[in-house]
Amino acid sequence: MSTHPLPNLAREPIPQFDLSAQYAEIGADIRTAVERVLSSQQFVLGREGEALEAEIAALCGVAHGVGVASGTDALILALRACGVRAGDEVLLPTSTFVATGSAVSALGATPVFADCRPETYNMDPSELERRVTPRTRALIAVHLYGLAADMDPIVAFAKSRKLPLIEDCAQAIGATYRGRRVGCFGDAACLSFYPTKNLGAYGDAGMVVTNSLELDARLGNLRNHGQAARYLSSEPGWNSRLDEIQAAILRVKLRHLADWQRARRSNAAEYNRLLEQVPGVMPPHEPEGCEHVYHQYTIRCERRDALQQHLAARRIGSTVYYPYPLHLQPLYAHLGYNAGDFPHAERAAQEVLSLPMYPELRKDQIARVVEAIADFVKC
Ligand SMILES: Cc1ncc(COP(=O)(O)O)c(C=O)c1O
Repeated sequence: MSTHPLPNLAREPIPQFDLSAQYAEIGADIRTAVERVLSSQQFVLGREGEALEAEIAALCGVAHGVGVASGTDALILALRACGVRAGDEVLLPTSTFVATGSAVSALGATPVFADCRPETYNMDPSELERRVTPRTRALIAVHLYGLAADMDPIVAFAKSRKLPLIEDCAQAIGATYRGRRVGCFGDAACLSFYPTKNLGAYGDAGMVVTNSLELDARLGNLRNHGQAARYLSSEPGWNSRLDEIQAAILRVKLRHLADWQRARRSNAAEYNRLLEQVPGVMPPHEPEGCEHVYHQYTIRCERRDALQQHLAARRIGSTVYYPYPLHLQPLYAHLGYNAGDFPHAERAAQEVLSLPMYPELRKDQIARVVEAIADFVKC
């Protein structure tokens, strides 16, 4: 008889996010890739970064990629390359991570918020016409949780107003809208490779992708002290380069991205199937023509905070993305928005809850999460 008792699966913690199984699978390849960079002794702006830029651009269906230090820097540099300056206004959704807004603020420009659609949490395109002003200089569409925003009307609006369109793809690499991957709809698109993202580095990293040769060249200068040639700077830039070790790691992980995406979608399908039997909980919506990549599997429940506590007591992790829409952040108090200005975003902020989601999540774990939710709604 074994001296090691089987783990008590019913009490095994289920974290909301876990990278350890992934590292167990790919660790040897990662270490080989890192060793390759160490042996080359080339750490910044080398072959790995260039190869990654080409691979990510191809994945997004565009011509160019510019590796930068983070998703936030990708947004700041893309906005700047598109001509946004102090005093300008930039339209963006209020339901997003604060970085989308603070990138605008970092340039001295003013974010102008739009409400979301209640079923997708992405920006409602019908808001844009109401919020645009003569000072509007650009527009950011965020693909929240891994689901593409409704790009047809957003692109049409940007074209009709001749506004540069920037996509914030930080949460949605690989997601599709009418058969095309996000990243190819805007003038520029920004990716984050923060470790928890669907394609995550082992530190901070990001990229801007674009079809424009001109934006590509400008971004290449801006991330490197505004240098158009070595030691010849044509405008103020700064240092925001994606390093070779992160690029080499990301190239290993990129080979697995399609499989991981399939696993996330299969996990979401299992959640959806089981949650059908559970009243009072709204699973995520995948509109026709979109392929969601489930960076987050986000449900909606009126008694959200109590549900989160109930799950925590059963050692099940969950996270609220995000408890405050941007217009209610202290950071933007000076802009004069009030509670009630964006009712869909505000209600979502009180009701959304992201459940455990990662490619290696097992079906028995999903069953345990849904059982715990079903117990909660009964009482
Ligand atoms: C929607 C969104 N935009 C921008 C960012 C910023 O990316 P980073 O953390 O790489 O700076 C994030 C990352 O969390 C994000 O989720």
